[in-house]
Amino acid sequence: MKQRIFSGVQPSGNLHIGNYLGAIKNWVELQDEYESIFCVVDLHAITVPQDPETLRKKTIEIAKIYLAAGIDPEKSSIFIQSHVPEHAELAWILNTIAKIPELEKMTQFKDKLQKESRESASVGLFDYPALMAADILLYNTQTVPVGEDQIQHIELTRTLAKRFNHRFGDTFIIPEPFVRKEGMRIMGLDDPIKKMSKSAKSEYNYISLIDSEETVRRKIKKAVTDSGTEIVYSDDKPALKNLINIYSLLSEKSSKEIEQMYAGKGYADFKNDLAEVIINFLKPFQEKINALSDEKVLEILKQGAEKVRPLAKQKLDEVKKKIGFVL
Ligand code: AMP
Ligand code: TRP
Repeated sequence: MKQRIFSGVQPSGNLHIGNYLGAIKNWVELQDEYESIFCVVDLHAITVPQDPETLRKKTIEIAKIYLAAGIDPEKSSIFIQSHVPEHAELAWILNTIAKIPELEKMTQFKDKLQKESRESASVGLFDYPALMAADILLYNTQTVPVGEDQIQHIELTRTLAKRFNHRFGDTFIIPEPFVRKEGMRIMGLDDPIKKMSKSAKSEYNYISLIDSEETVRRKIKKAVTDSGTEIVYSDDKPALKNLINIYSLLSEKSSKEIEQMYAGKGYADFKNDLAEVIINFLKPFQEKINALSDEKVLEILKQGAEKVRPLAKQKLDEVKKKIGFVL
């Protein structure tokens, strides 16, 4: 029996190469080895205000990105979270298991609060991790491939699953996070101390997966670098280290090889080549995205929901029985 993985991305903001390298690229590599379920998490997206038309567009766009990246709907299930209502239902039940201080501790929540202001933050934003736990636990997921920033949420998922099992008897599998070391954290091009982020204020923070060639060249040219002139991979040159990481992950060359290639050369040569490496990656990717019609993608998403829903229903019924609901 293959182990099962589950992961998801929110249909908000612009998916960037950090999302690809930190998460989606790994999914593609894992789908042969694992039974895979990938979700477009629209219920999570609305924890901050979304424009309805944009949300609809982005939901399809994320699915196109999954497919263009190489997620194969014959092997993996891809679907929209809100098409399987069991997610929201289990989230409600897990709300009664989670404790307020546990949710208050979440770094992503604290970060977003700083951006939002406490007065305007929704209860859904606070409760985001309970919904994420529901996503994972509904499918007996063993492994959750994500970027490093999501580990805390998975730890909370484990806590909730264990607490439920303890109180009501063995019900949930305790999932493990799966994080690839190098793709762990792609940092902002304008600030290598903070991670590259969809919701960054400046577009110079990220390379979007749908950026044009020209935009990529402009952004890489503007990317901050460290003092010095040599191309070296080291912790005290965080900006350069980040650029070398991106280069390395997209070209399958090691950081050592890249250092050697640019020995005696300067930042300009390195950056020019990096822009080309990114463009060479993005071009076929974008061609694949453009070749997919919205209708075709929606059909794939609906089939995906049909495939996974029985699993979700079965788990939710088990949960309901355990907690004393009349079925
Ligand atoms: P999000 O953009 O927060 O919806 O994240 C979607 C997925 O991409 C999650 O698995 C994140 O951990 C991953 N991710 C987001 N930003 C980065 C980044 N800068 N570097 C690596 N992985 C990331
Ligand atoms: N919170 C995740 C993020 O921001 C997205 C997500 C929602 C997710 N549900 C999930 C990831 C379940 C893995 C498993 O990236």
